[in-house]
Amino acid sequence: MRSGIGRRLLWRYAPAALLYVILGSVLLEAARRIVLEGDAPPSPFSVVLLAVAILCPLIIFSTRQMVALAVSLEMAQLELLGVVSHAIAKRDDATEEHNFRVALMAAQLAGAIGLDRRLIPGLFVGALLHDVGKIGVPDNILLKPAGLSPEERREMELHVVHGDGILADANMPPGARGVVHYHHEHFDGSGYPEGRKGGEIPPEARLFAIVDVFDAMTSSRPYKQPMDLNEALEAMERGRGSHFDPAYFDIFAKIAGSLYAMVRNARVDDLQERILRLIENYYATLDPRRC
Ligand SMILES: [Fe+2]
Repeated sequence: MRSGIGRRLLWRYAPAALLYVILGSVLLEAARRIVLEGDAPPSPFSVVLLAVAILCPLIIFSTRQMVALAVSLEMAQLELLGVVSHAIAKRDDATEEHNFRVALMAAQLAGAIGLDRRLIPGLFVGALLHDVGKIGVPDNILLKPAGLSPEERREMELHVVHGDGILADANMPPGARGVVHYHHEHFDGSGYPEGRKGGEIPPEARLFAIVDVFDAMTSSRPYKQPMDLNEALEAMERGRGSHFDPAYFDIFAKIAGSLYAMVRNARVDDLQERILRLIENYYATLDPRRC
């Protein structure tokens, strides 16, 4: 993934670091003069005040460095996930762009719905890997051009179970496995693998199901032309309350136009850049601005 993360972080944190070093030096010199050369001993209050004045910038700086490290680790992980996601897309008729588009749209919809922000990293990871379990589906079923028999369909549906198994031993952020395991559940309980209903389906999977179907409908595949925005919304409206969470769908319908415009003709590089900015913004909100 083309990130330039090191350069961005340098520009972002270097001025603050320089300021803190200068401020710390001035305060340390003042402390030395008071303690070693002053006529009157400093009061406990002034000592505490001085300590806070010195430590506060250092704590902020250290915390920001930790946040920067977290961002760079997250980006390294995303880069690897991008490779895996590309490999998964090569297994069937989906594309690398599909995985990036659904990741982006899922994050936007999560914001509009007010999903717990702690689930956002997991939502990204789950979106990029949602069909990782297709690796475990035999080629003669996965790549079969004609309709599947009931037995073959059951085998195909196992991709969500395979996917959950693949992620089970990995240290995934909260929500990632929920997306992978339950993105084919339906709100009325008619989905798979467990036939969960309504709130039994994790919220991250309920919202992901909406953008996954939307992107499939509005994308071209070797065997079909893409629907336009209105056609897709009309078709999906019929699944409101049965396939899709009705409350989530209503929110989605309000922002579908902007999601469509954001991703429809975007190149892979543009999609990756947008994901990078979202990740940075997510961590920036964890960055303390004051003691
Ligand atoms: Fe799937």
